[in-house]
Amino acid sequence: MSGPGDRGTTGSTGADDRTAGPTTGPRSAGMVPPPRRGEVRLHLIPVTAASVAAAGRAADVLSAEEHEKAAALRRPVDRDLYLVAHVGLRRIVAAHLGAALGEVVLGAAPCPSCGGPHGRPLLPQAPGLHVSLSHAARLAAVALAADEVGVDVEPCDRPDADLQGLTSQLHPDERRLVAASGDRRAALLRCWVRKEAAMKARGLGLAEPLDAHSTAWPGDRGVTADGLHVLDVDAGPAHLGAVAVRAPGGATPTIVVTTSGSPPGQRAQP
Ligand SMILES: CC(C)(COP(=O)(O)OP(=O)(O)OC[C@H]1O[C@@H](n2cnc3c(N)ncnc32)[C@H](O)[C@@H]1OP(=O)(O)O)[C@@H](O)C(=O)NCCC(=O)NCCS
Repeated sequence: MSGPGDRGTTGSTGADDRTAGPTTGPRSAGMVPPPRRGEVRLHLIPVTAASVAAAGRAADVLSAEEHEKAAALRRPVDRDLYLVAHVGLRRIVAAHLGAALGEVVLGAAPCPSCGGPHGRPLLPQAPGLHVSLSHAARLAAVALAADEVGVDVEPCDRPDADLQGLTSQLHPDERRLVAASGDRRAALLRCWVRKEAAMKARGLGLAEPLDAHSTAWPGDRGVTADGLHVLDVDAGPAHLGAVAVRAPGGATPTIVVTTSGSPPGQRAQP
């Protein structure tokens, strides 16, 4: 897996969620320019004492449903992650809208499995801005792009039980890639994050059969048969990550990574 620097990713978007801005009142001083076609703004937000405290101070911006979902989580660490992820998502969107935190409206597409209001996140105030969210094992990831985008992060130490049965559901090319790998577990996890990122970019999530599209390629980026660019990302030493994005007009996608608590693009290599 290569890091963001390997693909020429640079700089902060200015939407760093370290600062606990106002939840209502004056708009953000500087509006972050929207991403260009083919550009993915990826924000990694680790759960730390500082990020939990900042999110807690802004928790009033969450919807009643989000509060309910957070409260239903049994482990405090999972509640913290949910809070950090959902406040962080709003903070990043607010910076791109030039809006105060409390002014951000988050919608959700209908779930492709049941039609309920919990599918991909939507931004009714900025229909041209696409967003995706992932949270796992003390890390939240928010991706923004001008076209459909998906992000997934998974912990490297995900239990083997979670991976059991996965191989048989993969696309035949992916099964071959995993079988030929020196580290099958790592190859399987890598395959998993790529697929989840792509399934989220399509808006289908796990409603999509796992063998519908292959993400089997030897390098750290590739294009699926339906034209989604999928890129491995450096999500730090404890996670694997991937983003998927549509890049019309033959543009080569780039990723700008901002990590809370460390300079952008400076994540340690796993
Ligand atoms: C989307 C999905 C692949 C996420 O998998 P995950 O690894 O468990 O979770 P992640 O943290 O990576 O992603 C979760 C986020 O994906 C987003 N998401 C949910 N459905 C999505 C979809 N169809 N497309 C894109 N993104 C979606 C949400 O923002 C969600 O965050 P939230 O649950 O905190 O609101 C999976 O949950 C899924 O397929 N869900 C749809 C099916 C479902 O929910 N069934 C139960 C009710 S019918």
